[in-house]
Amino acid sequence: MRGLRRERVELKTPEQIALMRRSGLLLHRVHDALEEAIRPGVTTKELDQLAERMIRDAGATSNFKGYMGYPATVCISVNDVVVHGIPDDQALAEGDVVSIDGGCIVEGWHSDAARTHIVGSPRRQADVDLVQITEQALWAGIAALATAQRVGDVGAAIEDFVTEAAGETLSHLEDFGGHGIGSAMHQPPDVMNYRTRSRGPRVRPGMCVAIEPMLIQGPGGYRIEADDWTVRTTGGGRAAHWEHSVAVTAQGLVVLTAADGGAARLAELGITAAPDPLQG
Ligand code: MF3
Ligand code: CO
Repeated sequence: MRGLRRERVELKTPEQIALMRRSGLLLHRVHDALEEAIRPGVTTKELDQLAERMIRDAGATSNFKGYMGYPATVCISVNDVVVHGIPDDQALAEGDVVSIDGGCIVEGWHSDAARTHIVGSPRRQADVDLVQITEQALWAGIAALATAQRVGDVGAAIEDFVTEAAGETLSHLEDFGGHGIGSAMHQPPDVMNYRTRSRGPRVRPGMCVAIEPMLIQGPGGYRIEADDWTVRTTGGGRAAHWEHSVAVTAQGLVVLTAADGGAARLAELGITAAPDPLQG
């Protein structure tokens, strides 16, 4: 629940973070397979079935399916849908902007990650910029977490990055943001994508959060459709969404849903990632 002053943050042991890394790595592989499968003509339901099969074959389960009645394994949000699009028989077309958000549970431990793709070609330059700036905003937020005193420093860094990179051309999706993650998909603390009055709880080893900027071309207005899920822009602008689940450890950060634990991207930003919990 939002707005409570002192919600308890679940601090994970190194063993629990290793299980979350297994969950995150499986999710990374699912996202790679989805990325590979995206092409003009494929339906969003076909992509959902691929994700469902991969998670099941790995002996894991989906944390999205059944969550507050959500009917699918992943959310697929096309063009002016920002988040929570429900997979259906819509075939993807050249140039579509497609955000896929998914998660899984391994031995009780959750992961959550999103990527945005552009289908085939041609690609509008404005869409390429949107997708790239959103992805870079995610990494700016992750980098900020590495040195943050408080969780709110992440949102401040994302806001500053987006203002610098996009000026007024892109807007944040308001009211939505990231969250703690662990033995449940959504936990305290909230991880907003912009500066808030409260700077939030202190960042400590064992804290795990999902960071997820969502950006829209033009003004940021949205409405939720009759299915109670689909979040669509009111201005018609297209949207992008990138998300990683990240662990804070005594040795530094582990980007749980990145192949290399975030090592390469963090190094570019001057930060040394923690050793991979599964490598010893
Ligand atoms: N991944 C979404 C979030 O980021 C949650 C989706 S809710 C679901 O927090 F019901 F669609 F699964
Ligand atoms: Co999330």
